[in-house]
Amino acid sequence: MKKKIVSFLVSGRGSNFSVIAENIKQGYITADLGIVLSNNGKAQALEIAHSYGMDAFFVDPKNYTDRESHEKEMIRLLKSYSTDLVVAAGYMRILTPHFINSYKNRIINIHPALLPSFPGVHAQEQAFHYGVKITGCTAHFIDEGTDTGPIIMQSAVSVLTDDTPTSLAAKILKEEHRILPEAVKLFCDNKIIVEGRKVKII
Ligand code: GRF
Repeated sequence: MKKKIVSFLVSGRGSNFSVIAENIKQGYITADLGIVLSNNGKAQALEIAHSYGMDAFFVDPKNYTDRESHEKEMIRLLKSYSTDLVVAAGYMRILTPHFINSYKNRIINIHPALLPSFPGVHAQEQAFHYGVKITGCTAHFIDEGTDTGPIIMQSAVSVLTDDTPTSLAAKILKEEHRILPEAVKLFCDNKIIVEGRKVKII
């Protein structure tokens, strides 16, 4: 079976990207590393990419007249590296339908809440201030809504009395680092079938 090529969209720290790159390098995930694209020139993820010997590009949205032309350049780069799977690992821009359709059911996102609760930004803080007792993270395919795509895996964490938004985010991040590689591995092993909203793991 031909190995899949996994590329990444990032905007910042890059800890989720780093965990997947390491899992691919160590052979836990059978895949090849593609490229890293960032919308932020200062993203730490760009340096991490270089430490893995990967090509990484800052595709500055300011250089494009609109979202689609920015994304066209991203798609061109992803295709030029024969990308099979795109992982949005802390990518902080909304993707247009054009991008999503170019990689339909081939873009995985990690969201720091148990969807469909708390979509959008600052999900950990949203959950904390709402007062839920359980929250967590969700690995899902990206569709045209905001954090609405088919769910691949979720993991729950308890919100304890002495938690703060920071301690809660740290607990959730630990689970993100556990389930995102698992979701990517399932995809790369061809073990995922998407039927409407449902993701079947075979
Ligand atoms: C993570 O909390 C992820 O769930 C959210 O953005 C954050 C990215 O962190 N989408 P990192 O860049 O992977 O460290």
